Amino acid sequence: MSKRFYITTAIDYVNGHPHLGHAYEKVIADVIARSRRSLGQETFFLTGLDEHGQKVQQAALAEGKTPQAYCDELAAVWKAFAAKLELTNDDFVRTTEPRHQQVVQTILSKLHANGQFYKEVYRGFYSTREETFLTHKDRLPDGTFDPSWGKVIELDEENYYFRLKDHQQWLIDYIEANPEFVAPAYRRNEVLGFLKNNVLEDLCISRPAARLNWGIPLPFDSGYVTYVWFDALSNYITIPASHGDPGVPAALRPQASTLNPQLSVWPADIHLVGKDILKFHAVYWPIMLKAMGAPLPKQVLVHGWWQKDGQRMSKSTGNIVDPVAVIDEWGVDALRFYVLRELDIGPDGNWTEAGFKARYSAELANGLGNLVNRSLSMLKRYRNGAVPKASNELAPEAEKVIAETRGLLEQNQLQGALQSIWSLVTRANQYVDHTAPFKLAKDPAKAERLDEVLYNLTEVCRILAVLLWPFLPGTATRIYGQLGLPGAPDKFSEARWGVLAAGHSIGAPAPLFPRKDT
Ligand code: MSP
Repeated sequence: MSKRFYITTAIDYVNGHPHLGHAYEKVIADVIARSRRSLGQETFFLTGLDEHGQKVQQAALAEGKTPQAYCDELAAVWKAFAAKLELTNDDFVRTTEPRHQQVVQTILSKLHANGQFYKEVYRGFYSTREETFLTHKDRLPDGTFDPSWGKVIELDEENYYFRLKDHQQWLIDYIEANPEFVAPAYRRNEVLGFLKNNVLEDLCISRPAARLNWGIPLPFDSGYVTYVWFDALSNYITIPASHGDPGVPAALRPQASTLNPQLSVWPADIHLVGKDILKFHAVYWPIMLKAMGAPLPKQVLVHGWWQKDGQRMSKSTGNIVDPVAVIDEWGVDALRFYVLRELDIGPDGNWTEAGFKARYSAELANGLGNLVNRSLSMLKRYRNGAVPKASNELAPEAEKVIAETRGLLEQNQLQGALQSIWSLVTRANQYVDHTAPFKLAKDPAKAERLDEVLYNLTEVCRILAVLLWPFLPGTATRIYGQLGLPGAPDKFSEARWGVLAAGHSIGAPAPLFPRKDT
């Protein structure tokens, strides 16, 4: 069994409800995972929740709940959200699960035994109200701290530190030798710039349990819990390790006897993350892995951030897009389509209701929806739903789009793939207008020409279903159903001209995207 393609997302903080930014990242990962499977590659797609840390402990306390009860309630919300987005994740990690915690402790013990940690006293300014250390950046222009921090005291705290500095030059060399490691390229340059112009500070990996106990206890010192980022980043390898992945170094796996060659996934092919957490993934994480003796992931793929109406999304100002409300009103495929068609993986995007509605109406309802509905309705009306004999008029254009889409999917260029697919939608709609089958139908002498036109349109609809499946799985499956084809169009190999056979009977046409008069 060969190694599977392995894609991960950031694991979301559990203290709150999902918003558009979370939905966007998970949808990108899902489309990449579905594309790989469609192209015939075994895939493993992991997403999940980051449940430890001070914020969760405080939020739970504020609601009078234990942190675990608080996390359990919200985890149900986030899992339901993943299902609502129609994600095909193979596993869902929660960092409070024993399977994760055990491996984190194994990693910590190993690094400790290898002398990667040291203990040191840190002296700094500490806000007792917020229970956090402040830095110079938190000072007001006059040098004092904002009253919102409450009483600020100078505090000595002893903690464990991870020797990042020792690996700095190695990481620079690694990123230079592996240009694909961080994508897009401007994000790689950002990381290299940071590494070349700063001396890395060693990473504090602990918090005293007396101050924060909602975390994984350090296996070598019960007075401390693990710093939340060390805990969270590890999820990418703890879950494969807990499944018995032979790609994970034996020393990190719970038991050698649980080896599971079916689940050979490590190293990850893609860690998909937002731009704000680039440093954690492109600096801390590779160094942690190197110190563990584990192979490095192939790529950290960095997406941009969504704004709404040109402003940062923020719960406190109410400026947010609630993806659940969008799905309830417009359908999950409309949301999946909009975010991927509007925004390439990399730059920032801006959500406006007008922009969303414009794409829905032009590209989904009037573009794809209209093409499929009129093509299948005409086949039903003029030929009683029976596919005529094959004709190849649109074959060269369809084959070109198929080849282009394949190449773009292999490069994770999702926006480009949608553009290519829509060039076929547009071409086929023009073909209807130019060939005017409704006129041909009135002239019995043109019956053969009508057969040709109907075959070309029906076959384009079938191919579109296959190409669209990773993006719009529900819509693609409905197109298949209306074509009278069983199952889901989930194999890219079916995207080739001439598969529909003469005489095949299609199902009942129905609108894919209801028009909304808003
Ligand atoms: N828990 C950490 C990640 C740990 S990964 C080992 C975290 N969580 S988060 O909930 O704040 O963010 C999760 C992901 O959502 C991040 O990749 C982040 O960039 C992304 N987004 C959060 N807001 C976003 C937008 N407004 N737009 C796009 N993505 C955004 O960070």
